[in-house]
Amino acid sequence: MKDYFKFYGAVYIIFIIGIIVMGTMYINDLPNVTKERIGGLPVVVKDSTKDSTGKVADLPMIKGTLSPPTDVMKYLASTPEMVDKGKALFTMNCVSCHGEQGKGDGVAGANLNPKPRNFHEMTGWTNGPAITMMFKTLQEGITSRGMASYSNLPPEDRLNLIMYVRTFSPDYPPITQVQLDSIDQKYSLTKGVKMPNQIPVKMAMELLLKENMTIDQKVASMVKSVNENKTDTSAVVFKGITSNMTKALTVLAQDSTWANNEASLIKIFDNNPVQNGFKARASYMLNAQQLTGLHAFLKKLFTGA
Ligand code: HEC
Repeated sequence: MKDYFKFYGAVYIIFIIGIIVMGTMYINDLPNVTKERIGGLPVVVKDSTKDSTGKVADLPMIKGTLSPPTDVMKYLASTPEMVDKGKALFTMNCVSCHGEQGKGDGVAGANLNPKPRNFHEMTGWTNGPAITMMFKTLQEGITSRGMASYSNLPPEDRLNLIMYVRTFSPDYPPITQVQLDSIDQKYSLTKGVKMPNQIPVKMAMELLLKENMTIDQKVASMVKSVNENKTDTSAVVFKGITSNMTKALTVLAQDSTWANNEASLIKIFDNNPVQNGFKARASYMLNAQQLTGLHAFLKKLFTGA
């Protein structure tokens, strides 16, 4: 009878050890998984910014340039050269979401809501299919809806892209001189435009200190700019998830790892949120689009791009 209990005692201990080992393995795997609430369903977000060594990449360094004056009027008529250049740029920058045939069915767009635009259809556009509106989309992005800004591409590239996109359907509204004039005026293209600097957040913060601006001063100017921003939905989203914006921006200024990817930003929201000026459930208040928009918005805010 005594041996009988000894045997089952040992089985019990092995069972407990098994549970601990499996639990540890699960916890170690957690950083690769960010649970998000999209329509109540947990969705696994892959961290795609890691390179093959597992290191995360900050924003690429792109030097601000003065792009040469653009002869806007030549876009009154499309040429094969414009379309060819546009196609190459489209393959490189847009196919992942908008699809090879421009049908909005690219692999990277599969989980987006709203879906990337199908360029064969003329209805339901947010900004619109006119050249003025497409240029606005590429300049500013529609970040709250998952469409990034391509203001880093020279204006001529953006116009060539539009020329290519227009080949997907015969129903695009014709391009008029008045429209091209308005693009020219609004973005001063014939004068040549200054392309924004895109520098990593970490470098931007270091630069700041060199310029003898304290983090407090920078944070104060950022708080002001967020509060005054009435057009970008991400500014409103950021206000919504912070309880003390000065504190929150100071935390983000001191630890720039959040700039690497969205998962790192979530990590900051989840670490002592209340003490750091964020609302307790900040990360659960965001859906995937809002998170993408907010991440881009904060990078822009910190680098002044
Ligand atoms: C990460 C995915 C993604 C990439 C890459 C992307 N787009 Fe989009 N794009 C979207 C989504 C999502 C929408 C839908 C936005 C909406 O409905 O408001 C969109 C919408 C658009 C629209 C229509 C805007 C409107 O008025 O409704 C245009 C034009 C556009 N994209 C052009 C481009 C071009 C050109 C490129 C490449 C330089 C590109 N996009 C790259 C996701 C993407």
